[in-house]
Amino acid sequence: MVGSTPPPALVRAGCPGVRAVPSVIIMTWLTTKATRAPWVLPVGALIAVFLVYSLPPYLTFDPALSRVPAGFWLHYPTLLLHITFGSVAMVGGFLQVWPWFRSAHPRLHAKVGRIYVFGGVLPAATMAFILGFTSPFGPITRASDMLGAVLWFTATLIGYRKARAKDFRAHRTWMVRSYVLTLSTITNRLWGPIVALVLAPGLDTTFGGSELAMGQAIAGITAWLGWTVPLVLLEWFGTRRRQVAR
Ligand code: HEM
Repeated sequence: MVGSTPPPALVRAGCPGVRAVPSVIIMTWLTTKATRAPWVLPVGALIAVFLVYSLPPYLTFDPALSRVPAGFWLHYPTLLLHITFGSVAMVGGFLQVWPWFRSAHPRLHAKVGRIYVFGGVLPAATMAFILGFTSPFGPITRASDMLGAVLWFTATLIGYRKARAKDFRAHRTWMVRSYVLTLSTITNRLWGPIVALVLAPGLDTTFGGSELAMGQAIAGITAWLGWTVPLVLLEWFGTRRRQVAR
């Protein structure tokens, strides 16, 4: 066996007698599973960067370090719960949409799926709705947050019910929508600096010198773009795919 690459199926099955060195396993994985879904590595890296950047201030349980000003007296605990359940949804959902994980561990897929729904999205979206309703970033952001939370909750619940009804095609479609909404919190943050750069020159003209008005406009546009653009792109690619497949 020395010098030859064992067939992936044998490596996966842990076949006795096949001594695959770690680099061979990694290369096999990279050239088969990962290339079949080339988005897995970049999306995984993006999620890791987001969590490493976003979570630390909240792990201190110090409200003074929160990036969101308190909107009401239970705001901070609600935000902490939202972030905890949101992180479960983000990581759990990643495992769910990863093709290799789904095919290699179908039973785990069902278990992680329940965690994604009941220990992730549904509580996180409920908290998001409350946070959105009381958001200090103004009415445009509030409307976006509340609608985004309702769509996130609803898409996930429909996806779950489709799985229970064994309609796996519809289950997949709705769960991809749900996960795109889960990840929209990342794209949301990518828009912020771009919108700020575009609007800042209009501080004295468009916003009459009001930093509050400009800040709320930036937050509002960012919030809306965060989830509408990924959803529109998803539906567009989905329709194109179905047309090509016909
Ligand atoms: C459609 C999905 C989501 C909606 C509608 C939503 C909504 C919200 C709202 C309303 C706030 C408070 C800020 C404000 O008042 O505008 C917030 C904050 C936050 N959310 Fe979400 N969220 C979603 C998904 C997630 C997910 C999946 C995570 C993953 C961890 C997450 C992490 C956070 C963090 C870290 C904050 C604090 C703000 C910061 O430190 O940058 N959110 N979210």
